[in-house]
Amino acid sequence: MSSSTQTIPERTNIPRHVCVIMDGNGRWAKKRLLPRVMGHKRGLTALENLAARCAELGVEYLTVFAFSTENWRRPEDEVSFLMKLFLQALDGKVAKMHQNNLRLKVIGNRGRFPAAIVDGIEAAERLTANNTDLTLTVAADYGGRWDILQAANQLIAEGKSEITEDDLSQRLSLAEAPEPDLFIRTGGETRISNFMLWQMAYAEFYFTDALWPDFDAAEFDRAISSFRVRERRFGRTSEQLPPEQQRS
Ligand code: FPP
Repeated sequence: MSSSTQTIPERTNIPRHVCVIMDGNGRWAKKRLLPRVMGHKRGLTALENLAARCAELGVEYLTVFAFSTENWRRPEDEVSFLMKLFLQALDGKVAKMHQNNLRLKVIGNRGRFPAAIVDGIEAAERLTANNTDLTLTVAADYGGRWDILQAANQLIAEGKSEITEDDLSQRLSLAEAPEPDLFIRTGGETRISNFMLWQMAYAEFYFTDALWPDFDAAEFDRAISSFRVRERRFGRTSEQLPPEQQRS
């Protein structure tokens, strides 16, 4: 993968790669006097809908943050519900994803997940490996710093003494994907929260107060409209861009 610090990706109206922090499930449930976990359940439906919409629009990669390395600190019953939901999704949704030609990938540290989940992930990745529509990547027990460190450790194990950007980026979990064009965070927070730190160097950021279970096609269209009017300069001046890429 070439670094976008060197190569300016072709300008498109539809981002090739969208990544999302799906925040606000707990608050969505609390507002309705429901247990927090109901928010996660509805969050899964919102994710299915977004994946379908992305495939329809021609987005090639959708990467979502489902569980961070820090989320293990949540109450035990919430963590175990999320694990159950993950397993149910692997059991119940993957066949449909496969039918729809979607490819599923899971990135993150698999070491702490129950064996049934790891087996489910491996089976789902194998089944959908050759699908050619949207690649949906779920980041689970993932952290951007973890990812950079595991890449650096691979390079040390290979005996490299001096490395390039390409050496490192090729060893990140999402090495085969282009860098994200659009980063969306719902739930009103304006933080990156240790998500894809290396790859987001030139992503366009979009924040919305919408809580994740309420993030529907109309909300996504607003994010895309905002993306379309951004001028992506990748360090250059506006005048250096081809006229069709200038926004002012
Ligand atoms: C953040 O909202 C959300 C999570 C930590 C979990 C995200 C999981 C899903 C959307 C379900 C998708 C599941 C699979 C199987 C891929 P929060 O709980 O921090 O919300 P709050 O800020 O309102 O408390």
